[in-house]
Amino acid sequence: MRQSAPRSGVRSLRFRPSGRRISGSGGGLGPYRALVPVHRDTLIAAQYFAAVAGTAAMRRCLTRPSSVLDRLEDVRRVTAHLDEFPNDLEIPVIEYETGEGYAAWAPRYDGPNPAVDASRSAIADMLRAAPSGSALDAACGTGSQAAQLVGLGFDVTGVDASEAMLDVARTNVPGATFHQGMLQSLPLADASVDVVTCSLALTHVPDLGPVLAEMARVLRPGGSVVLADIHPTTVSLGGAAVFPTGEEQFQLAFVRNLVHQVEEYVTAAVGAGLQVTECREPRYPEEAITGNPAYAVVPDAVRQAFDDLPFLLVWRLTKPA
Ligand SMILES: C[S@@+](CC[C@H](N)C(=O)[O-])C[C@H]1O[C@@H](n2cnc3c(N)ncnc32)[C@H](O)[C@@H]1O
Repeated sequence: MRQSAPRSGVRSLRFRPSGRRISGSGGGLGPYRALVPVHRDTLIAAQYFAAVAGTAAMRRCLTRPSSVLDRLEDVRRVTAHLDEFPNDLEIPVIEYETGEGYAAWAPRYDGPNPAVDASRSAIADMLRAAPSGSALDAACGTGSQAAQLVGLGFDVTGVDASEAMLDVARTNVPGATFHQGMLQSLPLADASVDVVTCSLALTHVPDLGPVLAEMARVLRPGGSVVLADIHPTTVSLGGAAVFPTGEEQFQLAFVRNLVHQVEEYVTAAVGAGLQVTECREPRYPEEAITGNPAYAVVPDAVRQAFDDLPFLLVWRLTKPA
């Protein structure tokens, strides 16, 4: 899953919209371009059902081997009827580069999303202990975290690489100020905010070090950085940022998530001069389990595969006063 990228390569840090130019606006950096996938393949639904049953079996081979027989039975049932619905569904699976993906996702981003809901609530919990004042929401997307900060009384600036996401944010949160910019070079002055939040974005960044250093730079002494992202365990199990495209044919369009283990966060935070004040690992919420596409076919397998696994990794980091 992990993409390799040169540590200092600015090229690897930029959003790289590619493809045919079309006149008009609404793209990532510059004019809108037709979407060009990084990779395109086909997933047969039966493959996914079997994969979930296998994940569940792996977790229980020693602790509950008798339940693994039920998972074998799931696989047998699915593979015995490979030519029947829904096992035979052929689903186009299309990977997009980060900038392309968010430009396409922007108009539909604000639909139901268990990760966004869980992240919002985890960040709200951690902000209770943070000082009020001015806040930066870094990689703010369509502004739902910025809206939460405005509601808590912060004076809010949002920054994101994607103009398409920012267009939606400006409409959603008129009480905040939004700027286009990268996590690796935030368009804010040194020591200018009391709080930095960043939700569901570090998983798209190859190297956490320069990003945490930027957050520490713009933070005032005594201030807090609150980070929430998809947990590395979930990303390691194939978790990606899947989004609706509005196409008639059902397809799985996604932006790849990168695995950042806990040690990478701690190393980046300590390297940036930040203290680790709090760390939490919220488990899979019920809606992420019942909302899994395999739940209608192999519900016990879905529950056994994901139950009690960490869904998010959430941090509060403090800049010494
Ligand atoms: C999953 S969305 C999260 C949006 C918002 N924080 C939320 O929780 O709903 C990820 C966002 O990160 C932005 N992003 C990804 N990499 C970035 C980078 N290197 N610099 C700035 N923004 C970035 C994308 O444009 C996108 O808006």
